[in-house]
Amino acid sequence: MVSYVVFGRGSFNQLDEILTPQRKVNAPMIFLVDHFFEGKALPNRIPLRGNDKIIFVDVTQEPKTKQVDALAHELREAFGTVSGIIGIGGGSTMDLAKAVSLMMTNPGSSADYQGWDLVQVPGVYKAGIPTLSGTGAEVSRTTVLTGPERKLGMNSDFTPFDQIVLDPELIKDAPVNQRFYTGMDCYIHCIESLEGTYLNEFSKSYGDKALQLCQEVFLGNKEWTDEFDDKLMMASYAGGMSIAYSQVGVAHAVSYGLSYLLGTKHGVGNCIVMNHLEEFYPTGVAEFKQMVAENNIDIPQGICRGLSEEQFEKMINVSKGMKPLWENALGKNWEQIMTRERLRALYEKL
Ligand SMILES: NC(=O)c1ccc[n+]([C@@H]2O[C@H](COP(=O)([O-])OP(=O)(O)OC[C@H]3O[C@@H](n4cnc5c(N)ncnc54)[C@H](O)[C@@H]3O)[C@@H](O)[C@H]2O)c1
Ligand SMILES: [Fe+2]
Repeated sequence: MVSYVVFGRGSFNQLDEILTPQRKVNAPMIFLVDHFFEGKALPNRIPLRGNDKIIFVDVTQEPKTKQVDALAHELREAFGTVSGIIGIGGGSTMDLAKAVSLMMTNPGSSADYQGWDLVQVPGVYKAGIPTLSGTGAEVSRTTVLTGPERKLGMNSDFTPFDQIVLDPELIKDAPVNQRFYTGMDCYIHCIESLEGTYLNEFSKSYGDKALQLCQEVFLGNKEWTDEFDDKLMMASYAGGMSIAYSQVGVAHAVSYGLSYLLGTKHGVGNCIVMNHLEEFYPTGVAEFKQMVAENNIDIPQGICRGLSEEQFEKMINVSKGMKPLWENALGKNWEQIMTRERLRALYEKL
């Protein structure tokens, strides 16, 4: 779990105070900042000291193992060691920060650690500061990376942040569509966790709360207020906590295939899949569709049209590789239930 959590409007201003005890002599704090903020006001508020460095990270595409390895290599060459890695941005930037922190101390390539509990050595100090809410990346024990072989997280006890700063002012100006897609990641986490076979009271307690908060902000055609940013930020936190002790399910397992092959981004990819999952999550999908309609969001259709046999096979392989997700969704005999043919038919609908 994350060791320290700060929540509140304006809490970003406490960053200097928070980082001071973590500073080591001559070892800089490295701020990985979402490139969206380049030239904006936020970077000027980062409390730089000594040889600290801001690196704007390009998250046009979701994080890749190559990108993580290159960043960690660059920092080791330049500084030897660093005091910490601070990720400021959406799920992609936070995942990059978590992965780079781990690769400052673990040998080899981040691709070697894609899987469950392969990381053996703690990384350097790491803190996460979300500017989009929904992924739960701020609390999760994974960092999702696309590698040469697979799109899969570095799931480990060493992956969670040491500190997170949840300041709802930072998500205030997120574009409506992006806010919705990332927010739906949280909603879908709740449905997949609450409807899953791995469910337990820990996951249910957080999942129920996150679901309620998502319903409060995305249903009822209400005008968006600051209070909604507060709620969405806590929904993301609780949704992340919910899957920390369970798993995601069908929407994620299928959307990983899309993003591996087509580069479809996580939030929108989950929405594209969720739109067609009535048979697995009837109530959740009906409510999801209501949210889409009330918030006037377009969910892309027909993205698998015209794909080759080989491409479908690739997506099916990536998706089938997500064993814990399928097992959570469908139980131990999931392979009999979700046959390659059935998965193929589902991809064809998207
Ligand atoms: N580690 C986990 O547990 C976990 C869970 C779910 C998803 N993820 C990962 O999270 C990523 C998706 O994250 P996301 O949905 O937060 O989006 P993102 O981080 O990919 O960012 C999406 C876009 O929004 C921009 N952006 C970020 N903050 C903004 C702001 N305040 N205003 C305007 N634009 C802003 C970014 O520059 C980018 O163009 C994927 O890489 C996915 O794999 C990780
Ligand atoms: Fe997700």
